[in-house]
Amino acid sequence: MPKILLVVGARPNFMKMAPLYFEIVKAERLTPRIVHTGQHYDYVMSQAFFEDLELPQPDYFLGAGSGSHAEQTARIMVGFEKVVLAEKPDLVVVFGDVNSTVACSLTAKKLLVPVAHVEAGLRSFDETMPEEINRRVTDAISDLLFTPSTDGDENLIREGVPRHKIHRVGNIMIDSLIRILGKINQDHQNRIVRQFDVEKGEYVLVTLHRPSNVDERSGLEQILKYLSQLSAQIPVIFPIHPRTRKNIEALGIDAVSAGGLRIMEPVRYREFITLQKNARFVLTDSGGIQEETTYLGLPCLTLRPNTERPITITEGTNELVDMCNIEEHSAQILSGRWKQGRVPPLWDGRTAERIAKIVVDYAIGNVS
Ligand code: UD1
Repeated sequence: MPKILLVVGARPNFMKMAPLYFEIVKAERLTPRIVHTGQHYDYVMSQAFFEDLELPQPDYFLGAGSGSHAEQTARIMVGFEKVVLAEKPDLVVVFGDVNSTVACSLTAKKLLVPVAHVEAGLRSFDETMPEEINRRVTDAISDLLFTPSTDGDENLIREGVPRHKIHRVGNIMIDSLIRILGKINQDHQNRIVRQFDVEKGEYVLVTLHRPSNVDERSGLEQILKYLSQLSAQIPVIFPIHPRTRKNIEALGIDAVSAGGLRIMEPVRYREFITLQKNARFVLTDSGGIQEETTYLGLPCLTLRPNTERPITITEGTNELVDMCNIEEHSAQILSGRWKQGRVPPLWDGRTAERIAKIVVDYAIGNVS
């Protein structure tokens, strides 16, 4: 059977890969191998997600770890090249926009192995964002480009990608979201909100990890000051990304749980979705959370000047905010004035099924 490598490396990749893995296994027409680059390695950033998504252990763990962009990308490429040479896959599938995505697509293409990119075509048009470079390079060399929404198709066509390579399949992260929502029962929800000592619908969930928000002292201090102010009105739960925690420590910023502000270690997928589902609103700079809140119909404030996921604003519940207008927007939500939004087309839990069909035909067609 033709062989397909599914490549993941960082937290947001795992829930994008899992549904496709299960579809490929179900189809019984390709041999899948999971490659984990090790870009994320802490238990709660990696292994806990494999457990919650019920994935098997990866076939390869490259242990690339952290470092500068060049160091990390280079280590992933060197490790992945050995895997491709040993496995001789018929197709490599990469997900999202992290350094592992670009590193492995480049490596595969140079060894003449075709590449499929899941979550292609998203653009923030902001070159200061490392992910924007990763997206553009990956899309430029991929053979199959799976987009979540029409803006993705339009961006790719504008960049000269031939139409026959582009497949609009919907949002694969929503497949995982729907699956885990089905496993979160009332008991579990009650337990989680009790564990975090909050009432359902009566807290704000915060995640912030983008370098543009957390790498500089003044910005980070301003954000923490705002969160502490907000927590006087409503409890604020802030599971803190390792990057943010390390910056807080390195900059010697005083950030402790006080009053309604609860700073804590990152939480695993199942807990995070439970917390999200029951929050009053979410404040984030993550890409995926903008999409999950749109699906859940939950107000989302994105602390960024732009987004590569504009559909979450035009059709969903998301708005971009900055430190000047964040207070006004959160007050609007707290007083019950917020747009309803709707779920974009094809965010229906069947994206992996659509991708698997195309991938199976492509890999088998190439071999025969
Ligand atoms: C990466 C992605 C980003 C994604 C984010 C999700 C790139 C360029 N960035 O950012 O797109 O939104 O993951 O989480 O690929 N660290 C740990 N333990 C871990 C992983 C990281 O302590 O398991 C710490 C290290 O100090 C590391 C820092 O976090 O230096 C940043 O990790 P890195 O993978 O470089 O980028 P993220 O900020 O996680």
